[in-house]
Amino acid sequence: MKISVIGTGYVGLVVGTGLADSGNDVICVDQVRKKIKALKKNKIPIYEPGLDELVKRNKEEGRLLFSSNLNEAVKESKLIFFAVGTPSNTDGSVDLSSIYKVAEEIGDAMEDDYKIIVNKSTVPVGTAKKVREIIKMRTSAPFDVVSNPEFLKEGNAVEDFMKPHRIIIGTDNPDVARLMKELYEPFVRTGNPIIIMGIESAEMTKYACNLMLATRISLMNEIANLCEKVGADVKEVRKGMGTDPRIGSKFIFPGVGYGGSCLPKDVRAFVNIGKEQKFNMHITRAVDTVNEIQKKTIFKKIKSHFVNLKNKKVAIWGLAFKPKTDDIREAPSVVTINLLLNEGVKVYVYDPEAMDNAKKIFKDKITYGKTPYDCLVGVDALAILTEWNEFRNPDFERIGKLMRNRVIFDGRNIYNLNRLREFGFEYYGIGRS
Ligand SMILES: NC(=O)c1ccc[n+]([C@@H]2O[C@H](COP(=O)([O-])OP(=O)(O)OC[C@H]3O[C@@H](n4cnc5c(N)ncnc54)[C@H](O)[C@@H]3O)[C@@H](O)[C@H]2O)c1
Repeated sequence: MKISVIGTGYVGLVVGTGLADSGNDVICVDQVRKKIKALKKNKIPIYEPGLDELVKRNKEEGRLLFSSNLNEAVKESKLIFFAVGTPSNTDGSVDLSSIYKVAEEIGDAMEDDYKIIVNKSTVPVGTAKKVREIIKMRTSAPFDVVSNPEFLKEGNAVEDFMKPHRIIIGTDNPDVARLMKELYEPFVRTGNPIIIMGIESAEMTKYACNLMLATRISLMNEIANLCEKVGADVKEVRKGMGTDPRIGSKFIFPGVGYGGSCLPKDVRAFVNIGKEQKFNMHITRAVDTVNEIQKKTIFKKIKSHFVNLKNKKVAIWGLAFKPKTDDIREAPSVVTINLLLNEGVKVYVYDPEAMDNAKKIFKDKITYGKTPYDCLVGVDALAILTEWNEFRNPDFERIGKLMRNRVIFDGRNIYNLNRLREFGFEYYGIGRS
């Protein structure tokens, strides 16, 4: 099939490349010319395991093109995917300006032939309808609009897209449902379902899934915080909970709060969608509040340990909102670093992939290590904010010798507290009294 994907970010690039890899002819479009220029030279603007080889192969085999010309890409394609950003406005509502702009551009580019417009961006219920109206005002050509939310996870995006647990297709046209099933069949050969539903239900499903995941994290963080007060260890509690098949062991790891470009904004959007319907989203609101508090938890522990933080030196391992990505959007690290800087702390950081993104935010306000150990010379404390594998089993003897004070704030509970005590460290975890 001839496909264009508008928006070549974390989602669009993976989707476009994945669709090319199953034999389709794909044009990935982005308004940022620099990005397209780099991609044409095989330079991938994001860190995503396995993506660079896949892009290179599909480009070399002529199935994957990159372009800044949306008009031409639309003319060439039968299926046009949207994967542009839908960030939060300051009031928590969703900024749909990119979606509407692309809809206008698609409408203007359409000639007489039939097109299917597929929305992959996360959008409030009713957006597909609005997109349909915008396009209809600009063209008399036939078209359908489909909601096809994306469930990939950064850090595992290629695998998630190539082997999805399920595909959700929101459409009211059985012919479109058939064609979309054909498109996705190569990805579900092991029998995972392609679920056809109404457009509104598909739009709702994406938010509902993210809300469920965020709720598990915030609830677990609340449980962890209470564990600290009552003398329980949340690691033990979590094991006890996770073995119950009704609960399951996934997404119940307490930590420093969820971040990234999806959960925070989608939870806020859900609250706002409720507000528009004059429906109070009690649980959703609480999930967001608990998370905002949790992002400050490591700072609060550092502050209460040292009391006066002026001129203290703190090293931070892990800036990305989770391992295997370079994404620091809404990351707890950003909140923690800002709070530390406000107290006059000198901050030293290391992350395997997210340093360039951190430099764009913090510039020379913090010091960047070339290795994790670089950051530790003479510091008063080390805080772990992302559970990258390379932080799991470090050389504690060396760490202790480099640091001025042996204090570790483990925001991801990756260390064995008894082992750390053997090395003479003071240890603060999450939910471990
Ligand atoms: N990142 C994730 O893990 C993830 C997972 C599932 C769903 N989503 C959703 O997918 C959507 C995209 O997310 P993302 O993380 O890929 O965003 P992103 O910010 O990484 O990428 C969006 C891209 O769209 C481009 N763009 C914006 N307006 C454009 C226009 N008018 N014409 C052409 N290109 C344009 C931007 O330049 C950017 O490259 C969002 O709605 C997000 O909620 C994201």
